[in-house]
Amino acid sequence: MSRTQVGIVGAGPAGLTLGHLLHREGIESVILEARSRDYVEARLRAGVLEHDVAELFDRAGVGARMRREGLVHTGVELQSGPERHRLAFDELTGKTIVVYGQTEVVKDLIAARLESGRPLRFGVSDVSLHDLDGDRPAIRYAHEGDEHELACDVVAGCDGFHGVSRASIPTGVLQEFRREYPYGWLGILAAVAPSHDELIYARGERGFALLSMRSPELSRLYLQCAPDEDLGAWSDDRIWAELQERLGVDGWTLHEGPILEKGVTPMRSFVVEPMQWGRLFLAGDAAHIVPPTGAKGLNLAIRDVHVLADALVAWYRDGDHAPLDGYSETCLRRVWRAEHFSWWMTTMLHRDPEGDPFDVRLQQSQLRHLRTSTAAATALAENYVGVERA
Ligand code: FAD
Ligand code: DHB
Repeated sequence: MSRTQVGIVGAGPAGLTLGHLLHREGIESVILEARSRDYVEARLRAGVLEHDVAELFDRAGVGARMRREGLVHTGVELQSGPERHRLAFDELTGKTIVVYGQTEVVKDLIAARLESGRPLRFGVSDVSLHDLDGDRPAIRYAHEGDEHELACDVVAGCDGFHGVSRASIPTGVLQEFRREYPYGWLGILAAVAPSHDELIYARGERGFALLSMRSPELSRLYLQCAPDEDLGAWSDDRIWAELQERLGVDGWTLHEGPILEKGVTPMRSFVVEPMQWGRLFLAGDAAHIVPPTGAKGLNLAIRDVHVLADALVAWYRDGDHAPLDGYSETCLRRVWRAEHFSWWMTTMLHRDPEGDPFDVRLQQSQLRHLRTSTAAATALAENYVGVERA
């Protein structure tokens, strides 16, 4: 049996950031990850960091490469049919966003962890959580053919939507909130310079499309599709033709290039309350999911563990357990703000296959309001760059 202060399940953005913030405060942790390092570093997902999340990485000493290679954007374009309208985040809120891939965030955090010398075990299996309602919880797991038991003061469940942590809480404790959507995203990474210097969110008769990027040489694009879309039916030519239809406007060219990766992402909204039980604290996708429109998922995960790290510092340093007791309540305020924003962006911009012309008129009216009202534009911008006080 080994011992640590904080047992962290999952080495995604939440688990790795938590381990790093705790290390900076002299608090021990062990991070256990089911997958290999290569797999975790290559998992293509989100790409937008809120202003304050980027600053948190700076303060935590893991922002150097993000500042060198990340792309600072001062606004985004909203497109409705053939019309584009720019929202200037810097003018509306004084804040900006940083376009920097989740793969890069994860690589930077793994490098910082290895440098710290603190334990990070990849390829663990049979993870189970025990005695979470006592004051000496434990994690059992297998690693490189051996069985282990890790005694902890607290366990952080950072193991994503399909992890074991949430499922270890007895039935009846958690209240679940969910919403499914009748569409998903087909996403590609393409070896071609981005055709625009900012993100374009486009709503149209053929469905939603998004132009994003990863670097001056790499484009990331998404198309609304069915939630169970068969990727086999999408040749590279068909993907580009559909993107041309949905994003095209007069006087602008969408440049095409080799597609390096493609995948389908289902969409859901999901929250559990509370986000803690006994000595187990859930963070990130283990506790909540947002549909990707608006890019909140990764940012919420980082915000959760920031709250958790501060609460653990107050507990270890000052014996003050009020912040830990209030962890769930503090996080859920921001979580529900992001849930609403993501649901709203999603329903405003996607074509509902079961919708009717009434729905379309509501979407058009909402988009017009964003073009004509500074108050409406500011509300979107504030949510996008990250609300200060949720
Ligand atoms: P995760 O990144 O899921 O990390 C959890 C980790 O726990 C994983 O490494 C997993 O392997 C590990 N794990 C799971 N079970 C166990 C176990 N039993 N034992 C040990 N380890 C375990 N957000 C956006 O903002 N924009 C996007 O475009 C976007 N695209 C996405 C595409 C996909 C396919 C998915 C699934 C999510 C996407 N998201 C996006 C959401 C965003 O990526 C997540 O919100 C973010 O990864 C959450 O980080 P996390 O650390 O909480 O969870
Ligand atoms: C990206 C993903 C999003 O969900 C979004 O709203 C904007 C950008 C991206 O992967 O680049």
